[in-house]
Amino acid sequence: MQERLKELQGEALEKVSAAMDLKELNDIRVAYLGKKGPITEVLKGMGKLSAEERPKMGALANEVRDQITQGITAKQVQLEEAQIQAKLAAETIDVTLPGRPVHTGNHHSLTRVVEEIEDLFIGMGYTVAEGPEVEKDYYNFEALNLPKGHPARDMQDSFYITEDILLRTHTSPVQARTMEKHEGKGPVKIICPGKVFRRDNDDATHSHQFMQIEGLVIDENIRMTDLKGTLEVFAKKMFGEEREIRLRPSFFPFTEPSVEMDISCMICSGEGCNVCKKTGWIEILGAGMVHPNVLEMAGFDSKKYTGFAFGMGAERIAMLKYGVDDIRHFYTNDSRFLKQFSIHE
Ligand code: PHE
Repeated sequence: MQERLKELQGEALEKVSAAMDLKELNDIRVAYLGKKGPITEVLKGMGKLSAEERPKMGALANEVRDQITQGITAKQVQLEEAQIQAKLAAETIDVTLPGRPVHTGNHHSLTRVVEEIEDLFIGMGYTVAEGPEVEKDYYNFEALNLPKGHPARDMQDSFYITEDILLRTHTSPVQARTMEKHEGKGPVKIICPGKVFRRDNDDATHSHQFMQIEGLVIDENIRMTDLKGTLEVFAKKMFGEEREIRLRPSFFPFTEPSVEMDISCMICSGEGCNVCKKTGWIEILGAGMVHPNVLEMAGFDSKKYTGFAFGMGAERIAMLKYGVDDIRHFYTNDSRFLKQFSIHE
């Protein structure tokens, strides 16, 4: 009996040490130490032993059990540890690997141009004014010296919503609204960026919706030379110090006199190329001295106050500044186009 117990101990410990995983170890435990196991079986024969031998055998059986239990516990710790190590090894991350580049969004090229122009004028003491895109005929046309039926309304084909409401065709109505708010008191010094809408067939240089930026200054003693000086600063800051400007006579119903401003071509510096159509000059914006009728309609005394205004298309400025050859690129959201304006690349 003693031998059988020792044999079982040896056998069980051998199996324990060979066990590959926790499940196998548990099976061994059940097989050897369970109620139906061989040790219990051996102990059943204890009745046949003498009173002297019985406690010895009992002690031995307990010892064998303890040995096997200890063996199993030690192995269990070992296997659990191994399991953790294997898991750690499998989940190792190489933190030195370079990361995958993530494309972060960036400001739209038009937003950048508009903000650049805003900053420039804010630096000259202007404030930014905004107004509604769905506008009253009164502010879009009438208050700007364009009464109903005026032929010059044809210069800006419009999207009407009702007889008296339309999508604004320019940002000049913001000027009319701002002047009205000032109740005849200067100075007014604003820059108005925003979306405008005109019935136009879209092509490389036309869009039925685009961004305009207009400026307005009203005060006592504002003269044409103030306009010219302001526009010159703008042209040089946006397109380079070596730019020259020229003013050509033009017509807008809300300014008198009216001009268009050209800048010397930044591609060929005046020698003649495709961008300036061999003239050496590029048209940039419209401007003029605020018409006395416009001042009076907004409640300003045109004998006391004078002013100048100018307006430009942000797309045109961006196209010239960045060499974009089709206005539609600004709206079709091709990420290859948009990404080129990221400050991170
Ligand atoms: N509002 C004019 C346009 O859209 C531009 C402009 C503004 C011209 C101010 C002169 C003065 O054509």
